[in-house]
Amino acid sequence: MLKFTTAMAVTMAITMPGTLWAQEKNFRVGLITPAVHVWNQEVDAMGVTLGEMSDGRLSVTAFPSGQLGSEETMLQQLQTGALDMAWLTTAGLTVRVPDLGALHAPFLVDNIADAAKILRSDEAREILDALPAATGTVGLCYAMTGMRQIMAKNPIGSAADLNGLRFRITPAPPIQTFFEMFGAAPAPMPLTQVYDALANGQIDAIDMDHESILNFGYFDHAKNMLETNHQMFGMVALVSGRVWATLSDEDKTIVQEAAQKHCDQTIDRFASEEDSKLERLKAVEGLTITENVGPEFFGDIVARWDAEWAEKTPYVARLRALSDSF
Ligand code: BEZ
Repeated sequence: MLKFTTAMAVTMAITMPGTLWAQEKNFRVGLITPAVHVWNQEVDAMGVTLGEMSDGRLSVTAFPSGQLGSEETMLQQLQTGALDMAWLTTAGLTVRVPDLGALHAPFLVDNIADAAKILRSDEAREILDALPAATGTVGLCYAMTGMRQIMAKNPIGSAADLNGLRFRITPAPPIQTFFEMFGAAPAPMPLTQVYDALANGQIDAIDMDHESILNFGYFDHAKNMLETNHQMFGMVALVSGRVWATLSDEDKTIVQEAAQKHCDQTIDRFASEEDSKLERLKAVEGLTITENVGPEFFGDIVARWDAEWAEKTPYVARLRALSDSF
């Protein structure tokens, strides 16, 4: 009688992915954010959901705080299949998928509720179709963190005060364009290095969201905050294309639905908690917050950014039109 060996099972798994029997799988998930961050909480919760939906066959092990390297490094690991999943910023993907740059258009939305609408739109969903060819990954769903604000060591009274500042930025071309346009000296660096760079004076200012400002305590070394809401900040839940190809159709559905559930919860949590996080920041001793700083603060930069990025992606015009319709 023919004996069914492990080698045969592996061969079947690779050559007949759509016809697999129920297999166990622990998904290794990489994130740049620390364990306390909402994304990490929702990745852990996604592990519970996967377990429930698969009778315990599917599970998650999270690697927070850039333990596996920068977002670009994690992307390379996803491409080779060395990493199963990652929750990465849309910013970190813009080098390979310039269309995602449109999500980082300055003042694309007026508030976080509209950012949620953009991320749930057909237009945004369409952009994910480019991921397999451009990155070797499958984009399961979008989520986000809070709107971006500016924090500086010295008081900022006008856009002229931003001129020449060494600004830490998330490494991403559309963000670099924005900061260069107001004369700052952008210093791209991963989230994990920001606190120390502020503490040791390597940088003068950052742009960041309420959640991370609270988690990391950047106000220890940057005591002036402008509530600009100048940019929404998306996230994409990615699965390695190679790993995806080994999953049965049933498991693909489970993974897609579990990820979607926790992307949606992430979006809803950020949208509903944005104001209360600002209230917590207002209670921080020694932190001066200037509220209601709008696009006019930045002069004609929004129009100039659009002119430059409209040449790189049609989604600038499409997402502006969508946002205008809200
Ligand atoms: C950042 O690079 O600034 C960032 C990345 C992930 C979550 C929040 C902020």
